[in-house]
Formats: sequence, structure tokens, C-alpha cells
Amino acid sequence: MFEQLEMAPADAILGLTEAFKRDTTPNKINLGVGVYKDAGGKTPVLESVRLAQERILAAEKTKSYLPIIGDVEYGRLTRALLLGPANDIDAQKRASTAHTPGGTGALRVAADFLRRCHDKATVWISDPTWANHPAIFDAAGAETKTYPYYDTESKSIAFDDMLEALEGAPRGDVVLLHACCHNPSGVDLSLEQWRALAKLMKARELLPLVDFAYQGFGDGLDEDAAGLRILADGVDELLICSSYSKNFGLYRERCGALTVVGNSEDSAARAMSHVEKVIRANYSNPPALGGLIVAEILSDPDLRDLWQGEVAAMRERINGMRALFVDSLKAAGVAQDFSFIKEQRGMFSFSGLTRDQVAVLRLKHAIYIVSSGRINVAGMTESNMKTLCAAIAEVLQ
Ligand code: LMR
Repeated sequence: MFEQLEMAPADAILGLTEAFKRDTTPNKINLGVGVYKDAGGKTPVLESVRLAQERILAAEKTKSYLPIIGDVEYGRLTRALLLGPANDIDAQKRASTAHTPGGTGALRVAADFLRRCHDKATVWISDPTWANHPAIFDAAGAETKTYPYYDTESKSIAFDDMLEALEGAPRGDVVLLHACCHNPSGVDLSLEQWRALAKLMKARELLPLVDFAYQGFGDGLDEDAAGLRILADGVDELLICSSYSKNFGLYRERCGALTVVGNSEDSAARAMSHVEKVIRANYSNPPALGGLIVAEILSDPDLRDLWQGEVAAMRERINGMRALFVDSLKAAGVAQDFSFIKEQRGMFSFSGLTRDQVAVLRLKHAIYIVSSGRINVAGMTESNMKTLCAAIAEVLQ
């Protein structure tokens, strides 16, 4: 049976990391996958995470299963981070959270939940979006459509076109939004645009599904949640898929959450009962360590302070690299204006490099970038910047 199978294509993002590992060129540069690197080019274990993990392992008494949706306290701490410590939704008990294996796990659970309970709905995804979004909804058997998001000419949001497309969406359809640090464009909605969107969602009875993978990497932990909070205030029902991969550096621990907001305590509980069924038939219950680390840090004031400082340092390093990248391109003789990169937020930058230019960078210079031209700015360092910019200058000529 297997002999007849065609080889499946490599993953657009993670496949690049594998190819990078196989490349023996010295001074190769990986700006593909969205993983943070420090000034030395390493992906560190955060100090707050190391301290919390030591405590947890020293006190650990069991490896028995967690509940299907994980610990209630992990859910509460997650919602406080997403929606604010004193949010109305929690006061009204209108939300419930499942601990999932990463943000990807949260998205897949959400997709399966929608198929189970809301199977006529089409899921609207931004054009462009994270390469795995369509794959996740396809795998769950959900129909997807795209709405315009990024205008390549003006390098800004095509907001009128986005609204027009969503105004045409049938009632009950689902709209997948990026809370901040839009992947891949790095261009986010303004607060005014979030307000307009919340109004439209409510009026058209559309269900927002918010992917929140980069909280803290844009402008700050609360600042990055501002759009989501506007939406949460403006609609009755909402799904949030969040991730601790980036802001706690817990990538391989697979730690995230699916939060269901209903219009009452009863409706949130009904929805979560179906989420439980979906999880039980998939991975049964979540892996514990990442969630224990996050809960320990968020509930201990000293660890939390330390962690907030570490998130701020990661954000500032990325923003520093954005500025240095723009200046270094200029210094390398690039005539085009790349200053828009300084305005983008989060790990990614839509560079405008074409598929062919990306291929030349890989083959000739061992520089790995996603074929859409998305660059992981968090992979740049002071030591690889000159080589990188010289290579880009060459392919742009
Ligand atoms: C990315 O977009 O590079 C990250 O979210 C990692 C991934 O799983 O694709």
C-alpha cells in the first residue's frame, strides 16, 4: 500500500528548518520558522521558565493525567492575561478555557468543535495568512474562504476590501483574525478598525475566532490584547486560540489554550462540553509541564515580573533588528525604500522579496526565507546582518 504513495511535499515552514539543518554551508542563516533567537543566535530557555521548572520538578508528586481540559486555574490565569485581570466576561462567568498542545492544537480543537456543532459555517481566513491555517481547517473538513487583508502596493491593510468581503459573509460564518503581529505580514489592525470590525461581527452575527500567538511581541502584553478586548466587549460569542510558545519560549512543550466565550455561563458550559468530546477523541488530555510552568510564573509576583522583563527584552531586540536591517540594507547599496519594515510588528516582516529571489538567496547564499517573502526578523543578529544585507542587495540588483 505504501509503495504506491507519492511523497507529500515538505512543510512550507517547518520543512525549511529541516533543509537548513542539512545545509553544510558555513554562516548559513535561517529566517524561516517563527522562533526567537537572542543576540548570540540561540533560542534560550527564559530564566523565569528555568526557575519555575526547577520548583515544579522538585515538588512533583505524580505524573497522573490532567483533566480533559487541563487545570481550571491554568484557564483562569490564561483568561486574565488575554482579557485583562478584572474583565467583565470572567465576572459574568461567560468563558471557559481548555489547555491545549500549543496554539496549533487550540486551532485544531476549535476547527473540530466547529465541525461538530456548527458544521454549515465557512471559516474566513485573511489573505495572506499563516500557511498552516488553511491546512488545519481542511484537515477538520471545514470549508474556508479568504478575505482581503494586506495590500502589497501600499504595504498596509486593505481594510475597506476586508469589510466589504465580511459584510457579504452569511450569518453564522466564522472569521479567523490575528490578535496582533499578523503572520506573515507584520501589519496589524488599528483600534478604530477593531471597533468597526466588532460592530460588523455583531450586526452580521459572525463568530470571531481569534488566533493570539504573539502576545507581548508587538507593543506590550496589554497593548497587544487591546483589539481582542474591544472585540470581546462588542460581541456575544467568541473563540480564542492562544499560544505560550513564543512569549514563554515553550515551543517544544506544546502549551496553548482554547477559550470559549458564550453569551451566558450556561452557553459557555454547553460549548465546552463539546470541546471536551473533541479533545477526548483526539489527544485525551493535555501535556502537563508547559502549563504548570506558565501557571507558576503567572501566579508568583516575582517570577511574573522577571518574565515580563524577559518578554520586553525579546520585543526590544526584535525592534532593534528591524531598525538595523533597514539601515544595513541602505548601507549595502539597496536603493528601494524598506523603511516600512520598521512599522511592522512582531517576529515577521513581509519583505516584498519574490519567490525567485527567495530561491536564489537559499541556493546561492544559504539564507532561508519562507517562499512568500516572509522574513523572521527575530532570527537576525548583529553578526549575521552584514552578510544578509549584502546577499539581499545582490538579488535585488
Ligand atoms: C511560524 O509561523 O513560523 C510559527 O508559527 C511556527 C510554525 O509552527 O509554523
